[in-house]
Amino acid sequence: MCGIVGYTGPREAYPIIIKGLKRLEYRGYDSTGVALQNSSGLKVYKKKGKVAELEDYIVGKDLHSNIGIGHTRWATHGEPSDRNAHPHQSSSGKLAMIHNGIIENYSQLKKELTNKGYNFTSDTDTEVLLNFIEEIKKNNQCDLEEAVRIALKRVTGAYVILLLDEDNPDTIIAARKGSPLVIGIGKGEHFLGSDASPMLEYTKEVVYINDYELAIVKPDELILKNLGNEKITPYVQKLDIELAAIEKGGYEHFMLKEIFEQPQTIYDCLRGRLDAAEGTITMSGIQQYAEQIVSASRIVMIACGTSWHAGLVAEYIFEELCRINVEVEYASEFRYRNPVINKGDVIIAISQSGETADTLVAIEKAKEQGAIILGVVNVVGSSIARISHAGAYTHAGPEIGVASTKAFTAQLAVLTMIALKIGYIKGTISEERYQNLLNELQEIPEKAAWTLKHSDSIKALAEKYKDARDFLYLGRGYNFPVALEGALKLKEISYIHAEGYPAAEMKHGPIALVDEELPVVFVATKDTYHEKVVSNMQEIKARKGKVISVITEGDEVSRELSNDVMIIPEADEILAPMLSVIPLQLLAYYIGVAKGCDVDKPRNLAKSVTVE
Ligand code: G6P
Repeated sequence: MCGIVGYTGPREAYPIIIKGLKRLEYRGYDSTGVALQNSSGLKVYKKKGKVAELEDYIVGKDLHSNIGIGHTRWATHGEPSDRNAHPHQSSSGKLAMIHNGIIENYSQLKKELTNKGYNFTSDTDTEVLLNFIEEIKKNNQCDLEEAVRIALKRVTGAYVILLLDEDNPDTIIAARKGSPLVIGIGKGEHFLGSDASPMLEYTKEVVYINDYELAIVKPDELILKNLGNEKITPYVQKLDIELAAIEKGGYEHFMLKEIFEQPQTIYDCLRGRLDAAEGTITMSGIQQYAEQIVSASRIVMIACGTSWHAGLVAEYIFEELCRINVEVEYASEFRYRNPVINKGDVIIAISQSGETADTLVAIEKAKEQGAIILGVVNVVGSSIARISHAGAYTHAGPEIGVASTKAFTAQLAVLTMIALKIGYIKGTISEERYQNLLNELQEIPEKAAWTLKHSDSIKALAEKYKDARDFLYLGRGYNFPVALEGALKLKEISYIHAEGYPAAEMKHGPIALVDEELPVVFVATKDTYHEKVVSNMQEIKARKGKVISVITEGDEVSRELSNDVMIIPEADEILAPMLSVIPLQLLAYYIGVAKGCDVDKPRNLAKSVTVE
């Protein structure tokens, strides 16, 4: 949450920063701002609203500068407004700072500063930290770097901060704890960002900054230190993301592009790992811990949002194929409980961004207690990937639409491969079933393409149902989490209230909502529970609810019972969620578009939730 960008070097900073902010808007879009520095001093321009609104506001202003920082905000302390937008300036006006995170003890620090005569122009924790740094700098007669170091030792919470200092006009001071920071290394220039997207066209060499590290960034020098003032050698890594991966490529929205990328992203995820002809699954990270996973008495999946839904599907798959007890936990609940973790428990952390604060802290806690942590993460080099003992990347490429789509199906593909591998080693799956599933898994990218090709009618369905006030999504077994995910997508994108429920459980409550106005979406593909789901459809029909179903091609029974259908090809029930979710993603997308919503940047949401 909150996107940060910085640049120092020979180029004009403003265009680099503004372009970078647009790429990071998925992290928050309440307000936007930049700080630039030239011979006439420090300039801060900021505005409530998206980056485009800042661009309009900034026309005609003095933007010449070879150094700058920029911020796109997701509000925590203080409503979205011009004055709460970042960058903030210190009382003297000599320092400017942007921040991603939360300073938890800000009210204590604010009290101390107020007693010393400081006034605050915003409601933010960021302005408090900035003035605290300025006060230390003044009092200790030290440079900014030293003041930041001292201040951060007093701070509790999470942060990435970037600072400009009028007295040191070519240097950015940056520090991180708990929120992501990447520094790109160019020739005589450096780029900073919450992720690598702002620097892709300039450099492929990056350094991921770790917690409690402080960076002193000049055009031709990058110095990394810990908070004890000891130098650290930067570990330079090569990026393997191409610019095209973060562009819309002719689609109207990133979300649509990402939905349509799924045949390719699932393929990329399987590539080099699944070899159906040989009957093998190669995942080196998992192989390394295979013995421990096979003998584990419990696996705990930890995640948030859509990733949590992937965990729920995986629970069914692992229990079926590996006969290991699986629990699926919301990271935010797990981290604050006193969970029982036994040595040898295996934790699977699932996260697209690899930066979700709750997931990160939850697995740190489990790791301290002796659990084995496996990360199923999309963003290479992200915090969760780095603190996990091992894991497997989902290789879905950058996901920019705030509502997760392609990351979900890639997570399912990875989790299925892990379960197949472990089940096979453990002997809890027959040779024949294993081989069949491998063959079928290999066909999933093609079947995803088939599903997308048959999706034209979904746009018309969206028109038909877009004015509904509520939706109910129902499914059983492997398709129950898919129903949850379908409901979540609709809520996120169209702001229509939607609830996901186990199809049988609806009799214990949600059925009271059913009338002729209520669209009920059934995920009713052919599986073990199909007849039961058909009975549930009958129950809804009997109460005049509108039945919209995701069905398997050729299923005339469900088609007859439904007012409208969306079709997927036949697939093993274990693998079907990778397909049955696709029509639901499209339905949410088209309804959101039909209602005129900003589907890539839904109200109040953000991707990469780095605050708890
Ligand atoms: C936010 C995003 C969701 C995502 C969730 C978990 O809520 O909007 O799309 O599923 O965070 O994020 P993660 O990056 O950990 O998968």
